[in-house]
Amino acid sequence: MKELLKTLGIKAENYGATTGTSDGWLKTSGETIVSISPIDGQPIASVIQATESDYRTIVSEAETAFNKWRMTPAPRRGLVIKEIGDALRVYKEPLGRLITLEMGKIVQEGMGEVQEAIDCSDFALGLSRQLYGQTMHSERNNHRMYEQWHPLGIVGVITAFNFPVAVWGWNFLISSVCGNATIWKPSSKTPLTAIAVQNILAPIADKHQLHGLFNMIIGKGRDIGNAMTTDRRLPLISATGSCDMGRKVAQTVGARLGRSLLELGGNNAIIVAEDADMDLAVRAILFGAVGTSGQRCTTTRRIIVHHSVKKELLSLLKKAYAQVTIGNPEGALILMGPLVDEDAFTTMMKTLETVKSQGGNIIYGGKRVVVSGCEGGFYVEPVIIDAPPELDVMKEETFAPILYVVAYKTFEEAISIQNSVDQGLSSAVFTDSISYSEKFLSHAGSDCGLANVNIGTSGAEIGGSFGGEKDTGGGRESGSESWKAYMRRQTCTINWGGELPLAQGIKFGVD
Ligand code: UN1
Repeated sequence: MKELLKTLGIKAENYGATTGTSDGWLKTSGETIVSISPIDGQPIASVIQATESDYRTIVSEAETAFNKWRMTPAPRRGLVIKEIGDALRVYKEPLGRLITLEMGKIVQEGMGEVQEAIDCSDFALGLSRQLYGQTMHSERNNHRMYEQWHPLGIVGVITAFNFPVAVWGWNFLISSVCGNATIWKPSSKTPLTAIAVQNILAPIADKHQLHGLFNMIIGKGRDIGNAMTTDRRLPLISATGSCDMGRKVAQTVGARLGRSLLELGGNNAIIVAEDADMDLAVRAILFGAVGTSGQRCTTTRRIIVHHSVKKELLSLLKKAYAQVTIGNPEGALILMGPLVDEDAFTTMMKTLETVKSQGGNIIYGGKRVVVSGCEGGFYVEPVIIDAPPELDVMKEETFAPILYVVAYKTFEEAISIQNSVDQGLSSAVFTDSISYSEKFLSHAGSDCGLANVNIGTSGAEIGGSFGGEKDTGGGRESGSESWKAYMRRQTCTINWGGELPLAQGIKFGVD
């Protein structure tokens, strides 16, 4: 562990705020937090949190940096992003391992999310030559109309513990290539990963003299989070986390007519039709429900299965679940690591109590697993629940590996169950029928931001836009046209003739 921390520039005690360059670390003086590894409950290192005064310093540096960066041509901004991507490539393994150490996902997944940020840097580089606006035909003689995209200013990015690098990457890399300065507030559960990321960025910020552009601040939600969401100098707040958190962010930012970009909870379902390839479905369900110990916003939480194949699916799932290796996520053969902390474990246990009291039948798992050498970690058996359709608790998102399996009779009923929850992030169907698959993808089909056929609900690529509807918050991040959320659109009309014709043919003026 010592070697890993050294490689990533993490000390025993670290400052919790930076303006991006190597000498940009602020001497923060807030409360110290200790980052605890979910692997064994042992401390890794500590961080002195930032205060509101540190926040004020950062915003003022960010304003200056933005004024310079916005005038740097986008293709040149793209080349800086490329250097960031290359640096992430170099540090992919240690950074992936630090994610494992600090939030408990297996190393394959830790490195996978660094790869997600690398992919996003490639995407941002391409975008740097494609931040296209449209041209319109003016109705007036000798006039030209077009629209162009300007950077917004300082973008606030608030991220969650479960994807401490990927979600930073989606936001920071796209926001930066669009010409913004960024202030990143990572989760207090993963401060060291954020510090490591900043250490990777620092030499690039030094080389290009980008002091104040790649800012990061670690602090309490009620201090720093509140300072960011109420600050009019931050025209956009992009926040990832729970629906409750998002609701507060949206209201605070909305009260000052700022914009928020929200990626909140999910309650993702896979519909398994009677003609589904069961082998494929089981593999996808396993990755979706058990991967990241059920702590992805895209985690598969519900299976809606045709009644005629429910028994078969349950027996295949039980067999697959029995083979899941649970243990220290640093181990190459482990598929499922711990929950992030004791709170997550308590919440999971409470949910299982509610399941029982509401008539759900736990047919697999649910017990705490003691892993030798890691006694302080909260490891659990993943859970399968045979759920009656009226099981209310199924409508809530519990950030744990709990899978509800509910039967349906008609495909329309399956879609209606799938859409019957408040969240609208990810969804999937397993079928070989073109009619089912097209129904699922039609206007009367899935109401989610992501809709997959013969692929599970999690593990999206960065090239598409990522996000969801309803209580998921409506935001879209990473690929496709998500970049537009980080810029402001300007419509320009240019008169190159000697007359001043008015639109709509209005005559106005004196002869
Ligand atoms: C999240 O859980 O907040 O699609 C993000 C996925 C990952 C991203 C998850 N690419 O599962």
